[in-house]
Amino acid sequence: MDFPYFFTWTAQRAATPIAIRGGKGVWFETEEGLWLDFGSLSYQANLGHGSERMVRAIQRQCERLLLTLPNGIYPEKEALARALLEKAPSGFSKVFFTLGGAEAVENAVKIARLFTGRYKTISRYRSYHGATLGALALSGDYRRPPLEPLGPGAIHVLDCYVSRLPGGAQSIEGGGSADAIALTAKLEGPRSIAAIVVEPVPGQNGCLVPPPGYWDALRRIADAEGAVLIADCVLNGFGRLGTYYGFEAVGEAAPDIIVLSKALTGGYAPLGALLVHDRIARHFDDHVLYAGLTFYGHPLGVGAALEAVRIYEEEGLIQRASELAKPFASLLHAFQDRWPELVPKTRAIGLLGAFELNMKQEAFERFVKSLRAERIHLHINHGFRTVILAPPLVIHAHELEEGFARIERALLASVQ
Ligand SMILES: Cc1ncc(COP(=O)(O)O)c(C=O)c1O
Repeated sequence: MDFPYFFTWTAQRAATPIAIRGGKGVWFETEEGLWLDFGSLSYQANLGHGSERMVRAIQRQCERLLLTLPNGIYPEKEALARALLEKAPSGFSKVFFTLGGAEAVENAVKIARLFTGRYKTISRYRSYHGATLGALALSGDYRRPPLEPLGPGAIHVLDCYVSRLPGGAQSIEGGGSADAIALTAKLEGPRSIAAIVVEPVPGQNGCLVPPPGYWDALRRIADAEGAVLIADCVLNGFGRLGTYYGFEAVGEAAPDIIVLSKALTGGYAPLGALLVHDRIARHFDDHVLYAGLTFYGHPLGVGAALEAVRIYEEEGLIQRASELAKPFASLLHAFQDRWPELVPKTRAIGLLGAFELNMKQEAFERFVKSLRAERIHLHINHGFRTVILAPPLVIHAHELEEGFARIERALLASVQ
């Protein structure tokens, strides 16, 4: 069928459209029936499907206020900014609003460039920071090369992460290290880096959980170089790693800028935000902040986010994610240990997990088809034959079991 709009990240003939009619909790409905959402759609549906609270809050916002100016002030905007800053480490004092994750990353980099007067950034190869040209320049994965050349100054370094092997042994992988980042920064010229931009745990590239000490070392490197440490928590935020913003799950240190989007509204409306530490925010008291958007702080997204943060809080969802982390990891590890040849590596933190598959392309394609037949939605990184799991935080233990049962049936079907 020919559609009058584009599908993203695909040749149009190869697109796999999906018509979601609605849903409840971790289930969504299409004409094929009910699907188990093990991917929180595009990692934004942390609150699950069909939240009546969210729908009512958005309706109320629509009735109260929709049209304003970028420099408009209204109570929900202030309340949301305060609520987000309250959850940040001490010293964070200002919020900048955007419409999505890529714009938030771009504005974080602009702030770092204006603050430091430098233009170079360090980010990692196996990372994704968004599809706009600036955010794509930082991203390391397969989506960047087709669009090159991109803006100058984006330096990439190898990742460093820990995988679990069958039986429980661990291996440190990725080829990178914090030391290598420190050296890269030095070799680029003394104090020449504007920002180090990282997802605390790269998500779409396969839940790449860093070894202990790595995150805190990034803080020390940023300090030594006078660079801004930007934590891209677009995917890691709002309970995904079992903590509020994500970086808290991988170390003690606080970044200088926290980038948020996706689950900020539970996916019920578009919004991005970046939280800026006071030592950077104050710079703009007397220097122009060369950044802005027509829909800066649009009431629809702001009203939705305000309700979402109330729901995370009042329904104890971050705590719930942290408690479910153990059964989630146990199920993943048990699955790996039943199929040690086919599933040589797994990684998990909070309610984010991944397993790598060791199978030929044909079997892998059968597996992907079988997942569809099992009606389980999850993310597949084809380049690394890695499956990424990120269920909504409202999931129940028996639904986690159901998800792994479906994955296992799909695996069985693909190797027979
Ligand atoms: C870590 C990370 N940063 C940024 C983005 C870009 O967000 P958006 O698609 O809202 O522009 C994504 C999107 O998947 C992401 O996973």
